[in-house]
Amino acid sequence: MNILILGGGGREHALAWAVKQNPKCDRLIVAPGNAGIAAIAECADLTIEDGDAVAEFAARNAVDFVIIGPEAPLAAGVADRLRAAGILCFGPSRAAARLEASKGFAKEICAACGAPTAAWARFTAAGPAKQYILQRGAPIVIKADGLAAGKGVIVALREAEALAAVDEMFAGAFGAAGAAVVIEEFMEGEEASLFVLCDGRDLLAIGTAQDHKRVGEGDTGPNTGGMGAYSPAPVMTPDVEARAINEIIRPTLGEMARRGMPFQGVLYAGLMISDGVPRLVEYNVRFGDPEAQALMMRLGAQALDLMQAAAEGRLAGARVNWAEDHALTVVMAAGGYPGEYGKGSVIRGLGALPEDSSHMVFHAGTARHNGEITAAGGRVLGVTARGDTLRVARDRAYGMVDAIDWPQGFCRRDIGWRALQRG
Ligand code: AMP
Ligand code: GLY
Repeated sequence: MNILILGGGGREHALAWAVKQNPKCDRLIVAPGNAGIAAIAECADLTIEDGDAVAEFAARNAVDFVIIGPEAPLAAGVADRLRAAGILCFGPSRAAARLEASKGFAKEICAACGAPTAAWARFTAAGPAKQYILQRGAPIVIKADGLAAGKGVIVALREAEALAAVDEMFAGAFGAAGAAVVIEEFMEGEEASLFVLCDGRDLLAIGTAQDHKRVGEGDTGPNTGGMGAYSPAPVMTPDVEARAINEIIRPTLGEMARRGMPFQGVLYAGLMISDGVPRLVEYNVRFGDPEAQALMMRLGAQALDLMQAAAEGRLAGARVNWAEDHALTVVMAAGGYPGEYGKGSVIRGLGALPEDSSHMVFHAGTARHNGEITAAGGRVLGVTARGDTLRVARDRAYGMVDAIDWPQGFCRRDIGWRALQRG
């Protein structure tokens, strides 16, 4: 089977790493890829949001299966274009990708199917939005309706902050994404992510994870794309997971199908769990990054079979073969991230690290220059390890981090703290 993966981050390196181990995989191409991916796959230069270009490339290279990593090509309708060309593809249609691309749409679906989530309202002008804030009081959450690369959410602890956020959004701080604003009730609890494969009709839960969104230790400082993750998430007990599936995921998928936009791909539910009761924070229509790094380390080669079953509508009866294990990813980022950061610094010591089913350094923003690996983005490496316990996985991951010689990089030293504190 010839496989094309779209994307070039740590998530896509992890997907490529898992897919490559499956004997079904003949040729593996990743577009655009990165320096780590280039060691295990062919990298291709392709505008991945351009459905015509992707379909043409796939046809020319006899690609049998396309796996779409990030949200932008999904929101641009690349999956629709591939399916129209008769090419098997993992990822939702443009219409179904609105679950992530429009927060208002996701809320509408929740309301229609009774899925528990924060109380909310959607506004297209500042005046009524501010009135609503004054009525509701702080803390309150202000969100740009559209895709804003994970930055369009402001959790306002005070009213003044919320009012200022509304002004900023309508002044264009998040571009077109902020033309509409969703204002939500602030939910208390512990956050966790649930990943569910869907084939338009059936579903299969394939794992849980917890991300670390803040840049600083102890969950302080500004939000990032994610500074580390582990899987499984202990807060997601079998009972909480069953409730999330029966009360949130299944009704959502039913409502999507009823509206003629069945969801096929991976639905990533961000959940807030309080007293064992999950409520939806948001949907994403792709794997998380860095959650995918931890998840793929645990799934390995079967990830390809499962994604293919989802794409081919064969999830009924599919199951995951789980080991009783834990995986943890520490993100190493360029100094300054998530603000301004430098590019081009040299990263040494990677070659001496183990690469096996328990140790992997997944590359995100890296490039190769004159035979050396250099930093080429904000989040640069996803140092990932697996173990029988989370503590073992954590110690292995930090052992690798400590062997990497990259003075311009940094990481959080407390990835996993919440789960480890539970004992
Ligand atoms: P998002 O970019 O939509 O994942 O949101 C970023 C983060 O904001 C989430 O991971 C939560 O930590 C927080 N958040 C979003 N919505 C709410 C809410 N209604 N209540 C509390 N926290 C929220
Ligand atoms: N790590 C959060 C995300 O992928 O959206």
